[in-house]
Amino acid sequence: MSTKEQWGSRIGVIMAVAGSAVGLGNFLRFPGKAAENGGGAFMIPYFVALLLLGIPLCWAEWSMGRYGGRKGFNSAPGVFSVIWRHPLSKYLGALALLIPLGVYFYYIVIEAWCLGYAWQYAIGSESLMNGIDPAGYKQHFEQYTGQGSDGALFAGGISQTLIFILITFALNFYLVYRGLSGGIEKFCNIAIPVMAVCAVCVLVRVLTLGTPDPNLVDQNVVNGLGYMWNPQPEALLKPATWLAAAGQIFFTLSVGFGVIINYASYVKPKDDIALSAITASSVNEFFEVCLGGMITLPAAFIFIGATMGTVVAVGSSFSLGFAALPNVFAMMPGGQLFGFLWFFMLFLAAITSSLSMLQPVNAFLKEGLGLDKFKATALLFTVSSVGTLFVVYYSKGLSALDTIDFWAGEFCIVILALVQAIMYGWVLGTARGKAELDNGAQLRVPNFVQFVLKYVTPAYLIAILAGYLFAPSGDGKSSAFFERINDIMKPDNFVQRISILIVLGTLVMLWIMVYFAGRRWEAEGRYSKLDE
Ligand code: PHE
Repeated sequence: MSTKEQWGSRIGVIMAVAGSAVGLGNFLRFPGKAAENGGGAFMIPYFVALLLLGIPLCWAEWSMGRYGGRKGFNSAPGVFSVIWRHPLSKYLGALALLIPLGVYFYYIVIEAWCLGYAWQYAIGSESLMNGIDPAGYKQHFEQYTGQGSDGALFAGGISQTLIFILITFALNFYLVYRGLSGGIEKFCNIAIPVMAVCAVCVLVRVLTLGTPDPNLVDQNVVNGLGYMWNPQPEALLKPATWLAAAGQIFFTLSVGFGVIINYASYVKPKDDIALSAITASSVNEFFEVCLGGMITLPAAFIFIGATMGTVVAVGSSFSLGFAALPNVFAMMPGGQLFGFLWFFMLFLAAITSSLSMLQPVNAFLKEGLGLDKFKATALLFTVSSVGTLFVVYYSKGLSALDTIDFWAGEFCIVILALVQAIMYGWVLGTARGKAELDNGAQLRVPNFVQFVLKYVTPAYLIAILAGYLFAPSGDGKSSAFFERINDIMKPDNFVQRISILIVLGTLVMLWIMVYFAGRRWEAEGRYSKLDE
């Protein structure tokens, strides 16, 4: 039997959840999505999704997580199986392992780019400090990430990118192996304040840039902020805007991934989870709107102005961070230092998130298969290495990364969020759910939230799902879902087909494990004790 893990302190769990939430989504994904979907107007569907989906589901996850934790389970299959005593429930719980694991496969790769770029700034690498050449930075980024052809990162010896992927991988597993409070919590306690300081430094630098080039009066701070925030209300009429906003809320809060359920299961029965949930979400929103929203795009605009379109369009949010911003750092005074601070901050933001993707599966391997700490970590390492190797090898146009991101990081979360909303509102029941939230809480969650969770959230999620399936996406005629399916069918898109197989294969593997876990839990008599 495993010894019971717990968070060391209440602030520690808040830091860990905030660490999970604050990530690349805040600094790269958010500015890209907002600018693409109506600028300031994007904030309307964004806040609607925050209030009707994000925060309520966050509370539901905290509540179900601690409920399951009290009944002796830390992983979603276990937690779901005590909430809904039906043989199927644990298989639904497997989704909450698949998503973080699938996202980890590629997230870790971007995390490694961040570390690599931070390193290049630290040593003053020629390729990033050589002056003003947007095309050059873009090319550097494409080369660094092997976008030219599949296997590019393996051609001609071990590339620097691969070395940073190895380092990042090792660091993640070292921390996960150290354990919940000794590894993850300790690291987040240090990383979050450091991140905040780095980000504020970069923000102050950007906001005090004024009009750096007197010949280009339009490229100033105010117009930079305007580029990001000026509302384009017509975007509100497009379903794609609303889908993007909801997707961003899930991604950024780490809601609908199964991560919070797992983290909350280690909370002590008398801790205030209602307040912790809101605190962690607020920290995330601060990093997203106040820091992410004020730095990335405005900075890029101030230096490269309207030509930015040509740099940013391809590969969207990544090229924004990795291809557009180096221009900015090359042109601004003290750019090397700020470049380093920026990418190091991104790296910290990313690693505190990737740790939270490993822990749910790690917990499952321990409690479901009865593996000890070493074996569980080793198995998790093996499985995630295969997934990541795949993403790293099929680097052409980042198509493996992009495909897994869509299915695991966008589509499946809507499904899992729906499962969670039903699990909470209709199976556990809002009365029991609320009792769990109120337990030990100074903050009383208002009653209408329960109503929202039971009716509004599921209805909203079904509408989103319908949007994915049927609403015309972007400029195309077919929906986001069918656009992807059509793409997969094209004869030369074989990487996309394998990417899907990797995701499905992982799901099947998890289901098999869940089957054995279920038998094990029955044999251990875990459920019979609960009925007393
Ligand atoms: N919330 C993280 C971000 O904004 C991403 C993440 C997704 C983290 C899923 C954990 C689990 O980047």
